[in-house]
Amino acid sequence: MEFNKIFGAILVAGITAMLAGFIARNVIHVEDPEVNAFKIAVAEAAEGGAAAAEPVAEPILAMLATADVAKGQSTAKVCGACHTFNKGEPARVGPNLYGIINNKHAHMEGFAYSDAMKALHDKEWTYSELNHFLWNPKKHINGTKMVFAGIKKPEDRANVIAYLRTLADSPAALPTEADIAAEAPKAEEPKAEEGKEGEAKEEGKAEGDAAAAEAPKAEEGKDEAKADAKAGDAPAVEEAKPEAKKE
Ligand code: HEC
Repeated sequence: MEFNKIFGAILVAGITAMLAGFIARNVIHVEDPEVNAFKIAVAEAAEGGAAAAEPVAEPILAMLATADVAKGQSTAKVCGACHTFNKGEPARVGPNLYGIINNKHAHMEGFAYSDAMKALHDKEWTYSELNHFLWNPKKHINGTKMVFAGIKKPEDRANVIAYLRTLADSPAALPTEADIAAEAPKAEEPKAEEGKEGEAKEEGKAEGDAAAAEAPKAEEGKDEAKADAKAGDAPAVEEAKPEAKKE
């Protein structure tokens, strides 16, 4: 039959594949391949996980004095999709960034800032504020219109901020030793995810009551006996049971 041939062919192919695999595994001995590649993947995942568990922008003030402005300018090209950097240039999607260091939030006249940014108008763009904002704009200023994921590497942020510093008539002073010492990583509030425990319901009592309700009520036999005894005295019953009287 055709089926038998086909089945046989599949069987042979399967056995051959198994044998090939067996030989490959045992004859060609491979020692834990790609251990390194695996480790890199895990390390990256762990980095992301750590960032999620402890969401803070790493300190960068100490890095500013020696930061690489040219690299910063290059990294800042992504900002250029939305921002202009030179004096007097117009806004794009975002405001012009000339002279932003130590300037007010929502500094550019006529730009349609978000309410969140406008609300911070009295605050200055210190190096530290920029560090936190550029690390994760939405996280640092909830409600900002700046749609940008953030610069995760501290060196990159330091370089970009060092570049922004050069965009000024006279660059702002670098952070002092005291500034650097005071720069504690601003801990974002840990998200309160306390478990809703402690509401275990007591369901044992109902069963206890049910058991108590089953009290024995077996005294019916005695009642019958009494009834018979009384019946003996009752005249009406005498007629019904004449034999009882004879005794
Ligand atoms: C997708 C567009 C976009 C990109 C990319 C972007 N920004 Fe912005 N940025 C905006 C917008 C829009 C605002 C206004 C935010 C608001 O009003 O909430 C803004 C605001 C800002 C401000 C505040 C300005 C002020 O006047 O208060 C700074 C500083 C800033 N961006 C820096 C940067 C830097 C540095 C980069 C690159 C690392 C960058 N932005 C990338 C769109 C962008």
